[in-house]
Amino acid sequence: MENKLHPKVLLVLLTLFLSTSDTNQLQSSSHTHTLLRLKRLLNFPSILSTWNSNTDFCNTDSKASLNVVCYENNITQLHIVGETTKPQILPKNFSIDSFFTTLLRLPSLKVLTLVSLGLWGPLPSKISSLSSLEIVNISSNFLYGSIPQELPLLSHLQAFILDDNILEGKLSDWFDSFPSLTVLSLKRNLFNGSLPDSLTSLENLRVLSLSGNHFNGSVPDLSRLTNLQVLELDDNYFGPNFPRIGKKLVTLVLRNNKFRSSIPNDLSSCYQLERFDISDNTFVGPIQLASLFSIPSITYLNISRNKLSGMIFENMTCNFGLEAVDLSSNLLTGNLPKCLVSNSNDRKFLYDGNCLEDQNQHKQSFCHTEALAVGIVPNERKKNKGLSKQVLWFGIVGGTFGGFVVLALIFSVIRRVNGKGMMMMNSETKLISENVASSGYTSKLISDASK
Ligand SMILES: *[C@@H]1O[C@H](CO)[C@@H](O)[C@H](O)[C@H]1NC(C)=O
Ligand SMILES: *[C@@H]1O[C@H](CO)[C@@H](O)[C@H](O)[C@H]1NC(C)=O
Repeated sequence: MENKLHPKVLLVLLTLFLSTSDTNQLQSSSHTHTLLRLKRLLNFPSILSTWNSNTDFCNTDSKASLNVVCYENNITQLHIVGETTKPQILPKNFSIDSFFTTLLRLPSLKVLTLVSLGLWGPLPSKISSLSSLEIVNISSNFLYGSIPQELPLLSHLQAFILDDNILEGKLSDWFDSFPSLTVLSLKRNLFNGSLPDSLTSLENLRVLSLSGNHFNGSVPDLSRLTNLQVLELDDNYFGPNFPRIGKKLVTLVLRNNKFRSSIPNDLSSCYQLERFDISDNTFVGPIQLASLFSIPSITYLNISRNKLSGMIFENMTCNFGLEAVDLSSNLLTGNLPKCLVSNSNDRKFLYDGNCLEDQNQHKQSFCHTEALAVGIVPNERKKNKGLSKQVLWFGIVGGTFGGFVVLALIFSVIRRVNGKGMMMMNSETKLISENVASSGYTSKLISDASK
């Protein structure tokens, strides 16, 4: 039986072999056609000048800015990075739709990098037909509009990077469709709205970079994202509470948002933390600098321009690797730590505008009142200004009339003002003591959020 079948099997094998080598040839010639068409649609960028009809695309040397990778004669990776120094927009007759229609002829694509090529237009929904895609980086182009609703079809996505475009809109609540997502980077676009809760389902997420958008609202609880290492939320409108984060964080950047809570006490349990930047917010209350300074991996620490209080000491210890520390414009008290002042390894250390025992600090009177009044009675302070205007006005009126009567009037006004001032001080101290009594406020909010 087997012997009889043998020639047939051979024949089948032979046909199979011939046909596959046939399709291979057909495929690679169609690849050539597709890639040259992409080159034409991209308006012949200089980076693609080596591509011509004789190029063996699957066997060219890879460069950082240009690389085609094939697997079993299918193109699986396409990296094209244009001139990053002078990014030019493609001419009017460029059609992003035709461009992606052409890309669909490479259905095995897993990695797609199209950076600084001047692509403009909305990201076409047909990108979702490239269902093998795992890594997408279309940064530094001119994509506008919102992310297509069909994106969840790309269920293998591991990295989705659209930095430096002009994309807008809210992020949809669809992140549970991307179980493998490791990197989500949407820096410097025009995205807005609050972050969807489904972000918290991305258990593999390592990098979440949303800097430079118009996001607002509270940051969802990220403490379940145990693999999260980079959280960059700077230059948005997030707030008011300090985000809940996992312990593996290496980079935490919250700069220039609307945060105005206190700082959690357990930050030092982020033992891998290297970069900590919470500058330009309105964080209040004490900060445990001693424990932050001594995190073994910390190199960059910036808490400047907040309303943080707390004491620092001459004999504090700090991690030797600290390269930059900026404590400026807060309400810190105490003495400069020796370990930071001794400028052993070109360390940058800024601390102006605090209440420290040193130069360029706030006036003592300011430190005295402000350190107590932080974030408690902003309205009372405004009233105070109104009052002094009244005094000025009365003074001017008094000057024009002159005479004893007016002097007497001023006298009575000053007495009234003084009286009010006394009343105000009383209500201020009352507010302060109330606040001290409820100082568990923020920590309670944080513990409530964990329920
Ligand atoms: C766009 O127009 C230019 C000339 O104006 C032409 O050279 C180029 O081939 C056109 N590109 C496409 C994609 O039609
Ligand atoms: C996207 O690609 C560019 C060019 O290769 C690279 O410089 C950039 O780091 C990539 N972005 C991310 C987040 O990996």
